[in-house]
Amino acid sequence: MNDGSSSTASRNPLKRFLLCSPDHFDITFEINPWMSSQRRPDRKKSWGEWNALVADLRAAGAEVHHFPSLPGLSDMVFPTDVGVVDGDRFVRGRFRHPERRDEAAHGATWLLEHGFTEIPWPDDPGMYLEGGDVLRFGDVLLCGTGPRTSPAAAAYLSQVLGIPVVTVPIVDPRFYHLDMSFCPLDARRAIYAPDVWDREGRRAIGELVPDPLVISVEEALTFSANSVVVGRTVVMPSCPPRIRTRLEDWGFTVRVSPVDEFLKAGGGIRCMSLDLDLLGGARRMSPILRN
Ligand code: ARG
Repeated sequence: MNDGSSSTASRNPLKRFLLCSPDHFDITFEINPWMSSQRRPDRKKSWGEWNALVADLRAAGAEVHHFPSLPGLSDMVFPTDVGVVDGDRFVRGRFRHPERRDEAAHGATWLLEHGFTEIPWPDDPGMYLEGGDVLRFGDVLLCGTGPRTSPAAAAYLSQVLGIPVVTVPIVDPRFYHLDMSFCPLDARRAIYAPDVWDREGRRAIGELVPDPLVISVEEALTFSANSVVVGRTVVMPSCPPRIRTRLEDWGFTVRVSPVDEFLKAGGGIRCMSLDLDLLGGARRMSPILRN
């Protein structure tokens, strides 16, 4: 599986993801509270977890594409942050930290080579946007702001994608991207940890989600919200028993795919799996991906 090739396109995948293999995954800098150069990932274990994740996503019904990471870009295994993609178009990420900025160009190159069209940014150096802050719930875009994404960038994204945005200011630095505290499940349900947002964010999300699975900060620290949903399967880095019971009561299947080596860099499954159809894809014609 680590031969650099991608999957063959299937006719009606439940989801399409782009992953980046851990060829050069390491901890060479510290840009979030999880990262420590004293606690570096094990190469063999990283490959094992990454290959198992690809297999688990495919087993759940997803179409998985992947590309290799590059020397010098030790965080490139988290392609979710390189952009926001939907259907046939994308907006590239504008990373807050210089250590990750070159990743955006590599992600964009893959997308352009595979038939996606880029929506350009205005010439405003104060705009930051990392894809881990961007999620869709129902008819709105949710955008975490503060640690990594600026409100002006969230507003621009909303305008160019033609979908209203709800911004959620993040106040707990351990949950520096919104995808660490919010996981949309379906049109009515989501897993979320409100204690890591400011009061306005808690209010906005509280009004938006009819059936929430509210989790504690302790439960969120297991990266349980950093999960992806494929049909009715929730692919999760870990799943505390209370969360599992609730998900199964709702009719979801839980598939735990441990990615502990990647958690050392502060990223879980959602960070590792760039959603190629963030708005549901159905709105636009998507390129058919082969190789
Ligand atoms: N080490 C990476 C960073 O700090 C982790 C990225 C996590 N990505 C995410 N979508 N939450 O940027």
